[in-house]
Amino acid sequence: MSKFWGSRFEGSTDSLADKFSFSISYDYRLAKYDCIGGIAHAKMLGQCKIISSKDAAQITSGLQKLLKQIEKGNFKYNPKAEDIHTNIQEELKKLIGEAADKLHTARSRNDLIVLDIKLYCLDQIEQIKTLIQQLQKAIVVFASKNKDVIIPAYTHLQAAQVVLLAHHMLAYVEMLERDKTRLKDAVKRMDANPLGSCALSGTSLAIDRSLTTKLLGFAMTTANSMDSVSDRDFIVETLSAIAIAGMHCSRIAEDMIIWATNEFNFVNIDWSLCTGSSIMPHKKNPDILELIRGETAKLYSNLSEVLVLLKGLSLTYNRDLQLDKPPLFESIEKMQDILQLLTKLFTGLKINQQKIQPHIQNESLFSVDIMDYLINKNVSYRQAHDTVGRMIKECLDKGKKLSDLSLAELRKFHSKFELDVKKLLKPEVSVKIKKSIGSTNPNFVQKQLNRWKKTLTK
Ligand code: ARG
Repeated sequence: MSKFWGSRFEGSTDSLADKFSFSISYDYRLAKYDCIGGIAHAKMLGQCKIISSKDAAQITSGLQKLLKQIEKGNFKYNPKAEDIHTNIQEELKKLIGEAADKLHTARSRNDLIVLDIKLYCLDQIEQIKTLIQQLQKAIVVFASKNKDVIIPAYTHLQAAQVVLLAHHMLAYVEMLERDKTRLKDAVKRMDANPLGSCALSGTSLAIDRSLTTKLLGFAMTTANSMDSVSDRDFIVETLSAIAIAGMHCSRIAEDMIIWATNEFNFVNIDWSLCTGSSIMPHKKNPDILELIRGETAKLYSNLSEVLVLLKGLSLTYNRDLQLDKPPLFESIEKMQDILQLLTKLFTGLKINQQKIQPHIQNESLFSVDIMDYLINKNVSYRQAHDTVGRMIKECLDKGKKLSDLSLAELRKFHSKFELDVKKLLKPEVSVKIKKSIGSTNPNFVQKQLNRWKKTLTK
């Protein structure tokens, strides 16, 4: 195994110990950021005259070449290298010779690894935000296409009231928007350059940390070298924001799983996101949505894995910290897949309006509207609730509809009833009469759709 160190070692390390400590199988994902960080570091070392400008230029162009190889996918990852930093260092040496030995001046893998993961997170978070935005757009397009569709909405999975389908969809858009702001918020604290903290105490060499901060585009330079190399809060915050976003995606998935059942049959999920059964030829199973629901467990456990890893860990760097990466990478990549799959789902989702129709004719769904009718006539909330409750019971007992009741029958329940109350027994009316901000009133929903269309294209 190739290593950064070893001159003071008496004998070689145990082969099982080597196998146990390898990280290249997963930290290869940091290769790009290791080069980007190295380029800024070399430029700074050159400008500060810690290394010659010739060496700095050689290192920079060497790392740029490696960066191109990495981006093109033809970089030679060495499965025998201890980690990605070692791998890059060795390849650089093969490319430019002696000068490569100067790159690691005034830096340690301890500050380097934090730098690499921060650059990786900043990049990936940007991508996740873009993917969230694409999902939001797909949902808004789906909502707009079906903007007149009315559906039953549920509490306790029992039909409760009617809403516009678009209103339900825009609830998802709001949830996803909060996910973006949580990620943005994590970035605010993450955006500080740890490079130059070295092993833990800083360096006696005259480096310019502000310069690497500027070259790498960080908003700040970290203020304490010990904190810089110990800090993994940014991973916890990223995983936490992802866990919450995953929870949202799992709830969206579950709604669609329910809506796609034969019993509901509100929507048709595109065949490309379903699978069949090996024994029951009639089945069209929403496996991808079930997996999205299921994978959310992993997003939670990855967060808890890193929290447990950090619990009680003494300052500063301990090798335990190498293990922050697999859960981080897994959550980031799963989240990206989930967001893209949900985008595909809404792009191909078809609504079954005629199947929904009978469900929104259930007059019980308008019970609160009838209560509000009485309240508008100065009846107390309690009396109104009681009245409508008795009406619904009687109708259920006698197999009648509320709309079948005559004026005389209505007045048996409350003297304030007029025949016009029956106008309330229509889904279109129920949504239209809502007045409160944030309600399902079609004018409000349309305004929200317009607002989202505008903000999401920015
Ligand atoms: N591969 C290590 C990690 O991911 C790099 C840092 C190693 N530093 C050390 N002092 N052993 O954390």
